Amino acid sequence: MSQKKNIFFGIVLISLLINACLSQQLRKDEFKSKISQKIQQLQKDLRGELYDKNTHFTPFPPRFDHQKGLYGSYIHGNIIDKDNSYLTHLIRTNFKCDDNNMFVSNFVLMALLDSYELGTIDLQLEEFEWTIDAILEFRDKNKEQGIPVYSFWSQKLINGTWGAAPSNLEHVAQLAATFPPWLKNWLDAIGFSYISHASDMSKVFRVPPDADDSSVNVALGQRLKQFQSLTKIEQKWNKMNFNTSAYYELLKQHAYRPFANLTGDLEKKYNNTDIIDPRSYLAFYDFFDEQYQIALKEQRKPVLSFFSTWILNYEEQVKDIVTIPAQTNNIDVSVNANAIFGLNNVLINDKNASDYFDQELQGMYLNVTNLIAYTIKSGRVIQRPDIVMLYYPSIFDFYWFAARNAHLLNSYDSEIRFEVMRQARDSLNQALRNQGTQQILSEIKYDKQGNAYWDEFLGDYADKVRGEDRNFASALALNALLDIWTISEKDLKTGKVIRKFIQNTPKNVTDAIDKGIQKIINYKPNFFETHDENVFFSGSLKNNASNQMFMPSNFNNFANGTSVNPHTTEFNWDFLKTLRLAVKGFIPKDQYEQMIQETWFQEQTPVDFPGYNVGEGFTFPYWSSPAITYSMSLLALSKHISIIN
Ligand SMILES: *[C@@H]1O[C@H](CO)[C@@H](O)[C@H](O)[C@H]1NC(C)=O
Ligand SMILES: *[C@@H]1O[C@H](CO)[C@@H](O)[C@H](O)[C@H]1NC(C)=O
Ligand SMILES: *[C@@H]1O[C@H](CO)[C@@H](O)[C@H](O)[C@H]1NC(C)=O
Ligand SMILES: *[C@@H]1O[C@H](CO)[C@@H](O)[C@H](O)[C@H]1NC(C)=O
Ligand SMILES: *[C@@H]1O[C@H](CO)[C@@H](O)[C@H](O)[C@H]1NC(C)=O
Ligand SMILES: *[C@@H]1O[C@H](CO)[C@@H](O)[C@H](O)[C@H]1NC(C)=O
Ligand SMILES: *[C@@H]1O[C@H](CO)[C@@H](O)[C@H](O)[C@H]1NC(C)=O
Ligand SMILES: *[C@@H]1O[C@H](CO)[C@@H](O)[C@H](O)[C@H]1NC(C)=O
Ligand SMILES: *[C@@H]1O[C@H](CO)[C@@H](O)[C@H](O)[C@H]1NC(C)=O
Repeated sequence: MSQKKNIFFGIVLISLLINACLSQQLRKDEFKSKISQKIQQLQKDLRGELYDKNTHFTPFPPRFDHQKGLYGSYIHGNIIDKDNSYLTHLIRTNFKCDDNNMFVSNFVLMALLDSYELGTIDLQLEEFEWTIDAILEFRDKNKEQGIPVYSFWSQKLINGTWGAAPSNLEHVAQLAATFPPWLKNWLDAIGFSYISHASDMSKVFRVPPDADDSSVNVALGQRLKQFQSLTKIEQKWNKMNFNTSAYYELLKQHAYRPFANLTGDLEKKYNNTDIIDPRSYLAFYDFFDEQYQIALKEQRKPVLSFFSTWILNYEEQVKDIVTIPAQTNNIDVSVNANAIFGLNNVLINDKNASDYFDQELQGMYLNVTNLIAYTIKSGRVIQRPDIVMLYYPSIFDFYWFAARNAHLLNSYDSEIRFEVMRQARDSLNQALRNQGTQQILSEIKYDKQGNAYWDEFLGDYADKVRGEDRNFASALALNALLDIWTISEKDLKTGKVIRKFIQNTPKNVTDAIDKGIQKIINYKPNFFETHDENVFFSGSLKNNASNQMFMPSNFNNFANGTSVNPHTTEFNWDFLKTLRLAVKGFIPKDQYEQMIQETWFQEQTPVDFPGYNVGEGFTFPYWSSPAITYSMSLLALSKHISIIN
């Protein structure tokens, strides 16, 4: 009797278990098929943002220049009023200028490559090649053949020198010069005075090539080498970009070295290498002083060097053709994260890297990694996002830029051939898995269904939450968490790359990822709301708090050699176009903090970050790209599906 009962219960138990497993399997299959559907949808959305032919600007009917192969990227103004009204929402999201830049397309291609490697999508080789062709057009044509120095905008030849020429912006500026006064007044009234006064704008656009665009291009080329099916495309890329050593030589020549005058020897090699934008100095003075104190204690000379944004010195400018905005170079921690991403890809893929990864470059690499770690660990990234990252208002951009470096170093353990790579990996892991993760998790929000998401700032102000950048922020936060807590391994059987959580990944991280993925899958756009906008990057001046004139400086010269007294002189917008304003050399912390107490151009030093929305109408231009939102979502889903497989 009891045996029969046991058998009966045994059968019931087993069938219950089978049932549970089956329904779990079913749920998993259902979930995977939902992800696959979403991936297909995102690919379709992304395809819709690809320019499949060249078009030319016409004012009527309004049509912009499009360069075949590039993905859409749009310049908006962050215009917002005191009540965050629906009208400013409409202007913010709809009033935009199409922009042809290489940066956005680079990130889309990288996301496609990563997803392809994870086996979630196929590559459309013909279209992929269009984009490569388009990107190669952005190489700085002032440089000798093969040197991979890139410019954000493509160039045109002006009086024998190649200068950056954003055609749509130039057309709009030319057009604006012909506007009748009433239209100019109206633009002024709604906050777009920069358009109404745009007649000499084209000079402002003539930016030099930069370490950001150049380095993400280097990373892309190295990545291409890893795919046999892309050999032809890789060769095409390589033909334009083979001189890696010359590139890193240029980055060293244009680096920022706060202690150069104390060590003396570097100053002989690189002139004015210790001059920097006052904003960068205010952002990082604590780190500089910390390193100075350590060196004092260890009785050695302090040494620090970082990648400057612009690959150009003051002396190398060509008047009105290649010019540094506001005359002074800066360091941006996100640009630096991208610079070492290029370098990490080179170190992993180029067996000849030791030819140029010399002591000096190794030092920079390590210093940059430690600057990134400091920015996270100290909380500086939250206190002053506007000046630690001059061009990247999105904090999740930054976490992910840092995280993808960590993920690369964690995944290619066997390719670590330099001690500094090990140090870099450990330093990034430590910062990202502790404070970095806490900071990301502390920003998490939940909807009524319990799905997780993140918002940045677009449209969120005055107690109104429009969440315009929600999908972008969520996708980047997820990519950051996934890159911090997983490593990639090659499945020897299938050749596919798979992602695995590292041991002891905290449950609140895996929960956040699961719930965030649900949010992405379940998102349905509607007519009245948009969540696919973003601030992928922006201009550097946001409001008075990120105006370098109001910060301590000790170098205030005009080109003709005369200087101004930064305390007594009244603020004047023209100075941003003519004055070379900087911090030169190292200033010890106690002395610098004294300077913070003083007034600069008759204003207090802005020590606090007021937020990116200050309710003053127009504040700053930003670049939004739904293509980035789609590709980053695609990438997060691809990583996730690879883990649950
Ligand atoms: C190009 O050269 C011409 C003739 O010397 C000069 O008038 C013009 O201003 C120059 N253009 C720029 C942008 O420098
Ligand atoms: C790379 O550029 C440097 C500097 O211009 C040059 O000396 C060197 O020959 C170039 N290398 C190759 C392989 O072209
Ligand atoms: C180095 O610093 C000293 C003292 O601050 C200063 O007098 C000197 O001009 C500086 N040298 C250079 C090359 O900047
Ligand atoms: C630095 O400037 C000095 C003086 O102008 C000049 O003699 C020297 O060649 C310059 N060095 C470099 C590396 O540009
Ligand atoms: C590495 O250097 C050797 C010798 O200079 C050269 O022949 C080879 O093409 C280089 N390999 C790569 C991948 O650049
Ligand atoms: C910076 O790099 C130098 C070598 O150039 C090294 O001695 C120093 O320890 C590094 N400092 C940090 C904080 O990475
Ligand atoms: C995540 O979970 C760990 C362990 O339960 C806890 O110590 C930590 O505070 C949590 N972090 C956040 C940001 O919720
Ligand atoms: C920004 O600074 C300028 C120059 O001092 C001043 O005129 C303006 O009122 C300031 N704006 C705000 C919002 O404080
Ligand atoms: C130097 O240039 C500035 C700005 O253009 C100007 O205000 C100043 O008068 C000039 N000084 C001399 C001595 O020419």
